[in-house]
Amino acid sequence: MDVPVSGFSKKSKQEKIEWLASAYFGNDPEAIHTLRKYWNSDTRLQELHDEFTENVISNYYLPFSVAPNFLINETLYTIPMVIEESSVVAAASNAAKFWLERGGFNAEVISTVKTGQIHIDYFGNGEVLHAFFSEVKEALIASISDIQKNMKARGGGLIDIELKDATARLAGYYELHCTFETLDAMGANFINSCLEKIAATFEAAAYRNTVFNESNPLPKVVLSILSNYVPECLVRAWVSCPLDSLAFGTTQGKEFAENFVRAIEIAKAEVRRAVTHNKGVMNGIDAVVLATGNDFRAVEAGVHAYAARNGRYTSLTEAEIKNNIFTFSIEVPLALGTVGGLTSLHPLVKFALQLLRNPSARELMKIVAVAGLAQNFAAIRSLVTTGIQQGHMKMHLMNILNQLQATSEEKEKAIEHFTRNTVSHSAAVEFIEKLRS
Ligand code: MEV
Repeated sequence: MDVPVSGFSKKSKQEKIEWLASAYFGNDPEAIHTLRKYWNSDTRLQELHDEFTENVISNYYLPFSVAPNFLINETLYTIPMVIEESSVVAAASNAAKFWLERGGFNAEVISTVKTGQIHIDYFGNGEVLHAFFSEVKEALIASISDIQKNMKARGGGLIDIELKDATARLAGYYELHCTFETLDAMGANFINSCLEKIAATFEAAAYRNTVFNESNPLPKVVLSILSNYVPECLVRAWVSCPLDSLAFGTTQGKEFAENFVRAIEIAKAEVRRAVTHNKGVMNGIDAVVLATGNDFRAVEAGVHAYAARNGRYTSLTEAEIKNNIFTFSIEVPLALGTVGGLTSLHPLVKFALQLLRNPSARELMKIVAVAGLAQNFAAIRSLVTTGIQQGHMKMHLMNILNQLQATSEEKEKAIEHFTRNTVSHSAAVEFIEKLRS
């Protein structure tokens, strides 16, 4: 049996790598070489990356791409996207160009409220707890005055605290439901610091209060944390145009729009389709969220919960035809930040934000929602016309050629050949084999 390693995090980077090489790679120098090849030659930059998390042994590249020509509320953007899937950026760029010629994208922020929860166990009389809460509410708010001083000066901070009785769902379960405005910060650290302070103040005040006794035992804080479900931090984006201007090739605009709307209806009606449909939306959303140094796991969790808000998982996007006008829209919860976190630390995140003209969090919400809408538009457009594989495989061709270790000359010939022929893995292998024989 393998022996567990002790004190691993205390070892130097070199020692960690040596241990890994001996424990898992039979001291193969190639394994160590692979890790080192991805180190940055600028040692200060490498140190910065080494310090982002614990036990860093190398860097893991993802492509940093851009999709130009996004007209959003009359402003033209080039959107940074970090994603490995070959066809996503090309699809976004195509959708951007398509809508650029049809008036561009519209977007509006509906609300920007975030929540944090203090989860409480209390098995006494609910009215006693409510009366106690009313009595201490001001003291709870006062207890975070230091923490929220700067945020308040900028116009944000705690909005309110409510005591919610959730005993119908879980015996003895109450919640201090705290709402916040965190302006341009995603706000996770700010919210969690406020919650922990409020929770401690609440418990200490309860301990001192004589209303709690044997028949009304002391309330106990189980845990305090922000919620990544942010249905009150919501943005909407949409496109619309007359049916006629959707025509392309031999396809009539009306026919295309009807097929498109039907595809959305199917995603609304059938959960297996809805998940894939929304995955396409998230291709766009995650790519921009990652490029701008935001927390894509938080966004993913919150967006999918929102897609199921009415008790059934469904499409994030809507489409309709009314009075010969086609409208396609999205509404998504997005808790994003453009200050704090990685935003001023990671040089590529700084670059991405600068490229977007240093947006406020509200502006970024609009841009990200548009990226999701554009991505979904491109996917549905392909799906109801040519099918997805044509564009997808065209973009994937380079990956296949790289797997086959094609030379630049072979690549050039293959790209030329596959402009006229259908791409598949076997067709690419056959083509390269023929070239080589
Ligand atoms: C692939 O990454 C995304 C799609 O499957 C989305 C969709 O089916 O709508 C093409």
